[in-house]
Amino acid sequence: MGYENILVHVDGRIGVVTLNRPKALNALNSALIAELNRALDGFETDDGISTIILTGSDRAFAAGADIKEMQGLSFPGTYTGDFITSWERLSRFRKPVIAAVAGYALGGGCELAMMCDILLAADNARFGQPEIQLGIIPGAGGSQRLTRAVGKAKSMEMCLTGRTLSASEADMYGLVSRVVPLADLMTEAMKVADTIANLSLPSVMMAKESVNRSFETTLGEGIRFERRLFQSLFASDDQKEGMAAFVEKRSPNFNNR
Ligand code: CAA
Repeated sequence: MGYENILVHVDGRIGVVTLNRPKALNALNSALIAELNRALDGFETDDGISTIILTGSDRAFAAGADIKEMQGLSFPGTYTGDFITSWERLSRFRKPVIAAVAGYALGGGCELAMMCDILLAADNARFGQPEIQLGIIPGAGGSQRLTRAVGKAKSMEMCLTGRTLSASEADMYGLVSRVVPLADLMTEAMKVADTIANLSLPSVMMAKESVNRSFETTLGEGIRFERRLFQSLFASDDQKEGMAAFVEKRSPNFNNR
């Protein structure tokens, strides 16, 4: 089955998903989210895929949830239908996800980007949670993930006023991994993805799981969790290969990629 709201392609071991509703600045409607989730399900179970890139257009990563679709919603339908919960599929994706963000990443667009693991921002990117201007609040984790990323003071100003951040502010506040020129965004994202795709996938997935655990638990529990994963990796042939390659002064050739 094809896609109408996203473009999906594979480059080696890298899956690339491009949000593609250009006339609506990639506003996230339910059809787009269903397609994104279907693509994620496919990549999750595909042994040929190690990592994915999520991107949009030069003008907009995504300008938020589709306001025209949401306009007619009412309570209790939003509650009984558990509106927005399906968006969380991305945050449960177990392989690394690189967000390549250019232009607007607003509302749900900023929230999707924050669900990714590595966030590369083009120098024209703008991040914000402007929901308050619509009489609502962030609904896909924005008030939580943004606060963990940039702290209470910045998050409060953004969530309470809708102020957006430039790419350089987002970089300074720790919201993004780094900023690159717009023209280089996809090349840089592919380089990062390619680096990860050549590593040992079990250790990459465990590193992701371990970092994410730090948001869910106490320091002591998190450290014990990390320690068990770390110890278990000594059962893998990739640990043998990685360390042998270092000692023999050559590049590792991991089995489990
Ligand atoms: N939903 C639906 N359509 C949208 C949209 C959105 N979030 N954002 C932009 N569009 C549409 C516009 O309606 C317009 O369509 P028409 O040509 O048919 O009128 C088209 O995209 C182009 O947009 P603009 O003409 O507004 O472009 P601009 O360059 O003047 O402004 C913008 C760009 C500042 C991003 C402006 O479009 C904007 O403010 N968009 C809404 C941003 C927003 O409020 N996002 C939060 C949504 S709520 C949410 O996301 C909830 C959640 O937590 C999940």
